Amino acid sequence: MNDTVNSSPDTLTIARPDDWHLHLRDGETLQAVIGASARDFSRALIMPNLVPPVTTAAQARAYRERIHQALKGSGVSTAFTPMMTLYLTETTDPADVVQAVKNGDALAVKLYPAGATTNSDSGVRDIERVMPVLEAMAEHDIVLCVHGEVTTHEVDIFDREARFIETVLAPLRRRLPSLRITLEHITTAEGVTAVREGGGALAGSITPHHLMINRNHMLVGGIRPHYYCLPILKREHHREALVAAATGGERYFFLGTDSAPHPRGAKESDCGCAGVFNAGNTLSCLAHVFEQAGALGQLEGFTSHNGAHWYRQQPASDTLTLVKSNTPRTQDLMVRVGDDEIVPFDPGVPLYWQVA
Ligand code: NCD
Ligand code: ZN
Repeated sequence: MNDTVNSSPDTLTIARPDDWHLHLRDGETLQAVIGASARDFSRALIMPNLVPPVTTAAQARAYRERIHQALKGSGVSTAFTPMMTLYLTETTDPADVVQAVKNGDALAVKLYPAGATTNSDSGVRDIERVMPVLEAMAEHDIVLCVHGEVTTHEVDIFDREARFIETVLAPLRRRLPSLRITLEHITTAEGVTAVREGGGALAGSITPHHLMINRNHMLVGGIRPHYYCLPILKREHHREALVAAATGGERYFFLGTDSAPHPRGAKESDCGCAGVFNAGNTLSCLAHVFEQAGALGQLEGFTSHNGAHWYRQQPASDTLTLVKSNTPRTQDLMVRVGDDEIVPFDPGVPLYWQVA
């Protein structure tokens, strides 16, 4: 089914997109990056990996309030709704989670395996210790968002997602088949297969960068730190599997940008941070990917319907229009923060689609 309101070769109007995985940070970085998301998106699911992490309803409310303040200072006039997540720790109280979701302080809970990624030290070491929380979530139909990588030292970084699916996700699904799980920012063919076989209890979010580049783009001809993110870019055949999933009109796949700003100095470093800042050109990138796949008609499902449906929200009632021009977009998306700057995602190809 193609719900696109208006489609011609050069313009595309879709329900305003949602971003179901976004890092906004805090303080001056939050103020600097919020506009990039608020301009194009209706809602975003905000990741809780601040320092210290957002673990309680009170912290989520306070963080949401800081986001609202930053929005006021951003000059963006369209409505943007941050939806909060709680960071799951081994001391999270099941009753607190249920209450926070009931009160509307959070929409979902985020599981980071300890040490998996940026600011994940407070994450889960032993899944056994969070089973009471997960059981309560299953009972109350609260979605668990998962960073799906094992962190065991011996496991190769390129195998960590597939290994997680096999050794953590599969047993968890057998134990709690009714728990709805978002396998976030999937990067592998195994991730795609797991979601397809998930029987409606699994969904997968996909980033624009994993749809556009593979590990060669990051490592051949010089190392490109701004492409370094977690889960790490994989081989081309995995990228192709992700494109097929995103563009194929399958309702359990949807957009989560994983836009993750770090200052240039922290990326271009002896030990560079993981994260790609893509919020400002996500829609241009996706229109390019979907057009290349001959699937522009499926873009709206991926950006604006599927995720909303999964999180039991109505799709946005307003729209966003993309226009294809004859010349590539040249907009400067660099963001200044203090003495440093945040480098936007460079897809490596000219982008002709722009948000009108
Ligand atoms: C994210 C960040 O910087 O917070 N980094 C990333 O590479 N995606 C954390 C995450 O989502 O893994
Ligand atoms: Zn992330």
